[in-house]
Amino acid sequence: MTPDARRPYIAGNWKMFKTAGEAREFTQKLLARLPMGNGVELALCPPFTALAATLDGLGGSEIKVLAQNMHQEPEGAFTGEVSAPMLVELGVHGTLLGHSERRQYFNETDRALQEKIPAALGAGLQPMLCVGESEDEREEGETQRKLRHQVQEALERVPDAQLADVVIAYEPIWAIGTGKVATAEMAQDAIGFIRALVGDRSKDAAERVRVLYGGSVKPENAAAILAQPDIDGALVGGASLDPDGLIEIVTAAAAQVQ
Ligand code: 13P
Repeated sequence: MTPDARRPYIAGNWKMFKTAGEAREFTQKLLARLPMGNGVELALCPPFTALAATLDGLGGSEIKVLAQNMHQEPEGAFTGEVSAPMLVELGVHGTLLGHSERRQYFNETDRALQEKIPAALGAGLQPMLCVGESEDEREEGETQRKLRHQVQEALERVPDAQLADVVIAYEPIWAIGTGKVATAEMAQDAIGFIRALVGDRSKDAAERVRVLYGGSVKPENAAAILAQPDIDGALVGGASLDPDGLIEIVTAAAAQVQ
């Protein structure tokens, strides 16, 4: 049974999809069709330009809104960047950090994440740290080495008492947008390993930290993944663009709490 602190968590990462108008339309459909009181924590991660419309569209609902990235400094000469206080002022609840697409295409480094995660926590934003190995790394038996490096580096400056306030998403790069989902056993193994890494720092945090799986999660495969003992939810890309698909995944997560 999932301890209370590990409430199932489903987050929809829209990546660079949806204008503000499309986001608003999505929230209307979602609120009209989503069964309330389902026990699942749900978050949407729109592009910066659709954050305000998403927050507004969700009104007073419990659904959270996360940004997809954030700069570590509160302000400064960093053209094109957005800071924690700017997100907080909008009413945003948290932010993805270290998504593999940011690491791959925009030079996101573990060093920057070491500053971004404490900056988010300090501002009252929930950081969702993304980690995961490439296909080559998995084939070469390097998965655990990669995960150890990413988790230890990114969490280095987070005090033990705050470790469980970070949400971690394990997203094997080879499973993102490819339709090639990790087997439930592979996902469980990697996520159990990530939980143990947190346990090297604090046993209490390891019990409480939520670790999600991401990579081609769809309504058809969500239940098998979410049934694994260490997997507390899912970070969903493509399937979260359609409110009905997202609701089916939330429903699969809700079945785990019954
Ligand atoms: P897909 O669900 O489209 O594979 O994307 C996963 C992802 O990167 C979520 O952050």
